[in-house]
Amino acid sequence: MEWRILRLAETGSTNLDAAEAGKRGEAEGLVIVADRQTGGKGRLGRSWYSPPGGVGLYCSVLLRPALPPETAGLLSFCAANAMAGAVREFGFGAGIKWPNDILAEGRKICGILSSCSAGEGRLEYAVIGSGLNLRAGAYPEELKARAACLEEFGKPPEREEILRAYLGRLETEVRELEQRGFEGVRKRYEEMCVLPGRRVRVSGSRETEGTVTGIGPAGELLLETVEGKTEILTGDVSVRGVNGYV
Ligand code: BTN
Repeated sequence: MEWRILRLAETGSTNLDAAEAGKRGEAEGLVIVADRQTGGKGRLGRSWYSPPGGVGLYCSVLLRPALPPETAGLLSFCAANAMAGAVREFGFGAGIKWPNDILAEGRKICGILSSCSAGEGRLEYAVIGSGLNLRAGAYPEELKARAACLEEFGKPPEREEILRAYLGRLETEVRELEQRGFEGVRKRYEEMCVLPGRRVRVSGSRETEGTVTGIGPAGELLLETVEGKTEILTGDVSVRGVNGYV
């Protein structure tokens, strides 16, 4: 894919900019990178702290994959694999916390937020945004227990280097999803996921607690409860380890 990188000094949210471009009919492969976001968006309606100074990578990718709209959510799994793989490529230990947080030593270094637009049974476009904490100052001090930046574990790569590594891997993951389905992506994801075998509490429309047994065929989080029941979790839920963040 010919990635076309648009670099902005400041914007509200690169995800919103990429969605606008999608609506305008811009071709896939557009990547919007901002030095700073004034209205960075996170999962579950949260905001994403995005200060200037090159401390974080804030980027959104516009794609028009050949996928049925109901499988568009699987693109976030592609992005999580791509980002965790890219971070590992630079020598950092990285794991995935379902659905799509990237962790280093149990603390969050990257968040992924995707959206899509579909019409007449067709996926029109998808936007995958990621915010990666590279250097000191990338996350607010009060999140220190749960967040981290790469610099805390070693010399961080330049934004450009990690962006290139991420985009290369993202293309491979997305092409595999389009051509061969989810199973290969799912397997790599499950291998990098830190949750299998852990006891977690999940909150969403209701609270559930159990031990994670794996990732299901449509990206679901599979839990075994104390009563020995299997719970299948999807959607906008938040997962916490019963003894800490994970
Ligand atoms: C999360 O809550 O974990 C997801 C955070 C996603 C943040 C990125 S930063 C670049 C892109 N633009 C946004 O407004 N959000 C995403």
